[in-house]
Amino acid sequence: MNFEKIFANNQQWVAEKISIEPDYFTNLSKGQHPEFLYIGCSDSRVTAEDLMGLKPGEVFIHRNVANLVVSTDNNLNAVVQYAIEYLKVKHIIICGHYECGGVKAALNPGDMGQLNGWLQTLRDVYRLHRGELDGIEDDQKRFDRLVELNVMEQCINIIKIDHVQRSWYKTGFPTIHGWVFNVRNGSLIDLGLDMEKVFGEVRSIYDLKPLEAVK
Ligand code: CO
Repeated sequence: MNFEKIFANNQQWVAEKISIEPDYFTNLSKGQHPEFLYIGCSDSRVTAEDLMGLKPGEVFIHRNVANLVVSTDNNLNAVVQYAIEYLKVKHIIICGHYECGGVKAALNPGDMGQLNGWLQTLRDVYRLHRGELDGIEDDQKRFDRLVELNVMEQCINIIKIDHVQRSWYKTGFPTIHGWVFNVRNGSLIDLGLDMEKVFGEVRSIYDLKPLEAVK
């Protein structure tokens, strides 16, 4: 791919948009009102808007290696706070994907330099679910299952965030969804997680509202 081709692609895209809707960019510049916050992997094959069939303005996006929600990640915390408090998104989606390089690395112990700290979160997911994962003999199935369990654990990490809990107590939103993109056939899979139920189960540990006030 020729680097200059990107700018030619861009001008072609602009022309296509304007030919369909002359005021397209004028309208786009007026503001955004996305209903979704999507947290996914940086993997170049997992394209967020494209795979969801959503247009510019419809989804707020955060991507990192292996779609992790790490409590000390200022970048992620700012994205979540902005999405909830200012954009008032109704849904937060954590989307993992099969064949995720980050997840694969976590299945293989070893020094990966700068990535060690980041991968530690994934190795922790492996440790938490070691009984189930080590019971799966097929390597591919174990890999796929860790992708799913990682999404589930990151959904739990989302409900630990103060902005999420405050919004839940105030409005009942956002709803948390755990998805997996199957890069092998293009399908999006909803893991069907009931995060309200999960919050009920871990509330006595992670609830940030004083217990007296909850009663
Ligand atoms: Co990935």
